[in-house]
Amino acid sequence: MTKHIGVLTAGGDSPGLNAAIRAIGKSAVSDRGDKQNIRVIGFRDGFRGLVENRFIRLEGEILSNLLTLGGTILGTSRDKPHRMPIGGKPMDMTDVILDNYQRHHLDALICIGGGGTQKNAYRLVEKGMNVITLPKTIDNDVAGTDVTFGFNTAMEIATAAIDRLHSTAHSHHRIIVVEIMGHNTGWLALGAGLASGADVILVPEIPYDVNLIAAAIRRRQHRGKNFSIVAVAEGALSVADLEKYQLLKEAKSRAKKKNDAKKITKMEKELARFAKYRKNNTLRLSGELEELTGLESRLTILGHIQRGGTPSSFDRVLATQLGSACNCAVREGQFGVMVGIRDGSTELVPLENIIKQRKIVPVDHPWVESAHRIGVSLGI
Ligand code: F6P
Repeated sequence: MTKHIGVLTAGGDSPGLNAAIRAIGKSAVSDRGDKQNIRVIGFRDGFRGLVENRFIRLEGEILSNLLTLGGTILGTSRDKPHRMPIGGKPMDMTDVILDNYQRHHLDALICIGGGGTQKNAYRLVEKGMNVITLPKTIDNDVAGTDVTFGFNTAMEIATAAIDRLHSTAHSHHRIIVVEIMGHNTGWLALGAGLASGADVILVPEIPYDVNLIAAAIRRRQHRGKNFSIVAVAEGALSVADLEKYQLLKEAKSRAKKKNDAKKITKMEKELARFAKYRKNNTLRLSGELEELTGLESRLTILGHIQRGGTPSSFDRVLATQLGSACNCAVREGQFGVMVGIRDGSTELVPLENIIKQRKIVPVDHPWVESAHRIGVSLGI
């Protein structure tokens, strides 16, 4: 009997999404008698399309020319099933999702996304739906998999950009501070920083001291190197700012425990103010380094360039491995799992084991150790 599955892409887009959609579509069709046919539909714009029942059939010509295409042909959104803005108000739409799941007689729903999507997908598992997820994000912060697709491509893009910044920094004897995405993890900044020979790499997992960064830059000056590249993860914070942030969070959770509504509102406002201040972190850092070293400093924010365009060959292969393994899980009736990659092979990981974790850079990670060994300053 033919099985029916739905696919959606949720959260920030990431190179390799279309390659994964293609792999799911192509591996659904049985060309041998021993495999069960699967019919695939794709919901548009993440969980919102599932709520609004907007979908396309993923078969035939639509699966052509997808391997190299950036973005997602399905569209994506950051909408959550349990808090979806409807007419300006956040509404729990999980029952509507269940209705649409049943209306299409789905045997499974495939949710392709990052950490947030894994959590949202698990909510649907709890509602009784058969869900399988795939891990994608340029941040590489999903637990239960060695790597997420999109990360390698973004690292290549950031590396190429920093390579270009080197020649201009060198020519003008400047500091160039370059902000790299990664949300609250430093995988992308650390990987691209190492690959491009950045002189300073700052990641959220290792809070920094601006004076120590300036000292490292001055040491380079004494060695005759009048330029420096400072690769900064967007989530990196100084020791002092991290302390401030943690105090605010602790105060909010204390107020929550005491049910002190006034204090909760106050702390929420303070946290929002801190988030605004944090947004300008790299700009502030660039100014501070200029003052402390006497070198001119410029800021480059790589931004969404890191998410755009064609996936690297690594991400095409990874997305194809994960996407095709997904249909094996459907045929075997294995649900409530994420298809991860471990030592080159796909692996099914129960969603409940990963949703409470985030894969951050361990401070003794081999990449961190290599950075130390070659004299890169980590701001400590
Ligand atoms: O999660 C991927 C990511 O690119 C993060 O690195 C970044 O912080 C965030 O998304 C940006 O989100 P948006 O595209 O919604 O601005």
